[in-house]
Amino acid sequence: MAGTDSELPASPSKPSVLVLGGCGFIGRNFVHHLVTNNLASKIRVADKTPPQTAWLNSSHKESFAKVDFVSANLINSVSVSKIFDDGEESFDIVVNLAAQTKYGCTDEVYNEGVLSLSLNCAKEAAKRQAKKFIELSTGQVYAGDKKASSEDAKVSPWTGIAKYKFLVEEELPRIEGLKYVVLRPATVYGIGDRSGLMPRLIVAAVYRHLQEKMKLLWTPELKMNTVHVNDVCSAIWHLVQHGEQGHVYNIVDKSDTTQGSITELVCRIFDIKHDYFGTVISNFARLNMAEIVDDSNDKHFTPWTEACNQDGLQYTPLSPYLHQELLYNKHLHMDGQKLESTGFQLTKPTLTEDSLREMLTDYVSTGLFPKSLTPSPR
Ligand SMILES: NC(=O)c1ccc[n+]([C@@H]2O[C@H](COP(=O)([O-])OP(=O)(O)OC[C@H]3O[C@@H](n4cnc5c(N)ncnc54)[C@H](O)[C@@H]3O)[C@@H](O)[C@H]2O)c1
Repeated sequence: MAGTDSELPASPSKPSVLVLGGCGFIGRNFVHHLVTNNLASKIRVADKTPPQTAWLNSSHKESFAKVDFVSANLINSVSVSKIFDDGEESFDIVVNLAAQTKYGCTDEVYNEGVLSLSLNCAKEAAKRQAKKFIELSTGQVYAGDKKASSEDAKVSPWTGIAKYKFLVEEELPRIEGLKYVVLRPATVYGIGDRSGLMPRLIVAAVYRHLQEKMKLLWTPELKMNTVHVNDVCSAIWHLVQHGEQGHVYNIVDKSDTTQGSITELVCRIFDIKHDYFGTVISNFARLNMAEIVDDSNDKHFTPWTEACNQDGLQYTPLSPYLHQELLYNKHLHMDGQKLESTGFQLTKPTLTEDSLREMLTDYVSTGLFPKSLTPSPR
């Protein structure tokens, strides 16, 4: 399996790139990265969500004006085959950022929306002799214990998405002729994030509005490792050039982010106080987790919706909703040395207050986050 990819030398001619799921959070940032750095001879985005309804910000819109968009449901293998057609040719590089990413779906939904989708795309990439297929998996595949997981650590997926992403990883080596690399990110944050750190910012905004102390399950030590979306995008492109055939790479920043460090930042931004229920009470809460999570989501929803209405935001894709799957005592603790050993360098090694404020500012400027809930500037 090992061996560097001899078919992708640093050639003067740029490759053509097919971005699957390019309208999503990582996808839009990856498209923007390709366009602004002028890395590709041609870019096609395939997604079931059109760019017009994907809540792109103005700079992402500008980048999307320069790419070819094709609407497709990638669960359907006939649609997949069509999006790979580019005249007589196909695409050099295929990056799969499409998946059912909602937490708490049924096995049937993940079986189609994650497993079938990725395998359809990977098989077509092999058939078309793509020079590289990059599959985004997740760090949630590792057993959620406290030790930092390198790529060969014990696997025990602790979310439904991770379970099906790992099935994808197991199937990829069986696809004849597929030239691929797998990337497992920690929690990704940055412009356009909706489900990584953004719900925690929204919940903190709600507590400031309510003038209440925010209470969290478990302890501050719970590992919630992070990585900036810009680093994920450059890592994808780095692996196109330097990823070894069939290898898996983690991507995680150097912050060793925990629930405690995230909470300190969001509380500083919104000037609120917080406290933890601790392990004993949280373990007790586990017995009745669904109800407790529902109650707390309800508590956050009402003031959030009121603030949106008051500020005249009729539609926003943002929500304070945190799914139960993300609220168990599972550590997301990863080791990113393997990727670094290939020469990759993080540009955002540390999670900072500025990066989180930047996400909020972007959402306010696109009219998706109520101005009345924004924190005062530093
Ligand atoms: N965001 C994170 O924190 C994070 C962390 C680890 C791994 N990942 C993985 O990275 C990948 C991208 O994540 P994201 O955060 O950008 O997700 P996202 O939900 O923002 O984007 C996914 C995109 O895929 C598209 N899509 C979904 N099903 C489709 C289908 N059947 N046909 C066509 N398009 C379809 C959606 O319309 C969306 O635009 C996913 O595989 C995800 O599991 C994300």
